[in-house]
Amino acid sequence: MDTDNRVLRTRFGDRLLHWTMVSCFFLVAMSGLSWFFPSLHWLGSVLGPPQLARILHPFLGVVVFVLLMCMFVRFVHHNMPVRTDAVWFRHVLDVLRNRHGQKLQIGKYNAGQKILFWGIMALISALFVTGLVIWRAYFAVYFPIPVIRLALLAHSAAALALILLVLGHIYMGLWVRGSITGMVTGYVSRAWARQHHDRWYAEEVAPEDTTSVKHHS
Ligand code: HEM
Repeated sequence: MDTDNRVLRTRFGDRLLHWTMVSCFFLVAMSGLSWFFPSLHWLGSVLGPPQLARILHPFLGVVVFVLLMCMFVRFVHHNMPVRTDAVWFRHVLDVLRNRHGQKLQIGKYNAGQKILFWGIMALISALFVTGLVIWRAYFAVYFPIPVIRLALLAHSAAALALILLVLGHIYMGLWVRGSITGMVTGYVSRAWARQHHDRWYAEEVAPEDTTSVKHHS
């Protein structure tokens, strides 16, 4: 991409945070799925032999939760609901058909991405709390068996919902051309910024646009 034509979308630290989360998330999710669906037992080998996977899964889960808290701090201010999110909802079908005729007044993240953000926050938090309750080595001993059973059920349900949500997130990342490049290199084209996040471009990118490549959080 021509450097005059690109704008910084995601800083290095935030990209590192995102991709570290992706790596840890996949390790935890794959080992968890291997215990839930017997036909997927081979997925568990991502964390080594079964005994080791059982030990590592909860510790990595704690790492995922800590990364989530960092993500919360770094991304929450872009994910607060605003009035103009309603415009995106009204035109969601046009968005899905990739028709960008009208201005949708989309800030740094659109309403769908905000739902993803809060969904991820809620589901990983639920996984963390229920995970502590069912963590045999340390905490399960403090809870009665019916509570452990309920927590196990809630843990599995939250995990499946989260995996579906993340699959949707990956699909949208692939669907909107240029966004994965943005999360890898940090940069997107001006056209991309104007087309997909018009209010972000107008309010935060264009006003400071005095040199070729600008830096934005
Ligand atoms: C292979 C897996 C993944 C891919 C390809 C991917 C891709 C992306 C891309 C391209 C963006 C930038 C969107 C934009 O600039 O508008 C993004 C943002 C984001 N991703 Fe991912 N992602 C993946 C997995 C995950 C996982 C596992 C999580 C958390 C559990 C996650 C959480 C986020 C968050 C919080 C944002 C910022 C959006 C917001 O705050 O609303 N991603 N991702």
